[in-house]
Amino acid sequence: MFKVDKLFILFGILAALGGMGLGEHMGASGDLTQRVTHVHALALGWIGAFLFGLCYRAWPMLAGWMAWAHLALHGVGVTVMLSMLFLMFGGGLPPQTAGPVLGVSALAIMLGVVLFAINFLMRAGRETAAA
Ligand code: HEM
Ligand code: HEM
Repeated sequence: MFKVDKLFILFGILAALGGMGLGEHMGASGDLTQRVTHVHALALGWIGAFLFGLCYRAWPMLAGWMAWAHLALHGVGVTVMLSMLFLMFGGGLPPQTAGPVLGVSALAIMLGVVLFAINFLMRAGRETAAA
């Protein structure tokens, strides 16, 4: 069964494929309007999720509800953020509509990082897994 570590890395792989595909399109067409979407798909979606996955693998004592909540907040937050950026820079969605949703998605991602930090500070020194 998939655990938090593998699900983070799986999410990262999907974001890498999407973000790099967008980069290939940008390079091939010379159209850079989705540059910010490309950057955040790779920074938050690929590298961020990949590093969190490796951390949960390296410190199995972090497994528990905070890790699952972090996965949910990062997965949903990054997916919503990238969808909004794509639609906004693609021209369809007005910034007035996308802006608040982008703000909430960024807060969700940051709340996930806060949970990760608390979890890490509380449990990383322990010898055994919590759950
Ligand atoms: C197959 C992989 C990739 C392709 C084809 C690609 C393609 C591109 C292209 C065409 C641009 C626009 C360059 C310009 O402004 O003239 C760009 C910008 C950028 N890419 Fe990628 N990229 C790839 C992977 C990555 C990765 C892995 C990262 C980071 C982890 C990354 C980070 C960035 C950043 C930060 C910019 C913006 C630079 C700026 O603000 O001017 N890219 N990429
Ligand atoms: C919740 C987290 C984040 C938020 C809310 C955020 C927000 C922003 C905003 C508002 C911009 C300006 C976009 C524009 O010029 O229209 C930006 C640009 C940028 N961000 Fe982020 N960011 C986040 C995470 C990150 C991370 C983790 C990285 C890298 C590891 C990163 C790298 C960049 C880069 C390279 C640019 C310049 C893109 C360009 O103009 O080509 N961001 N970000």
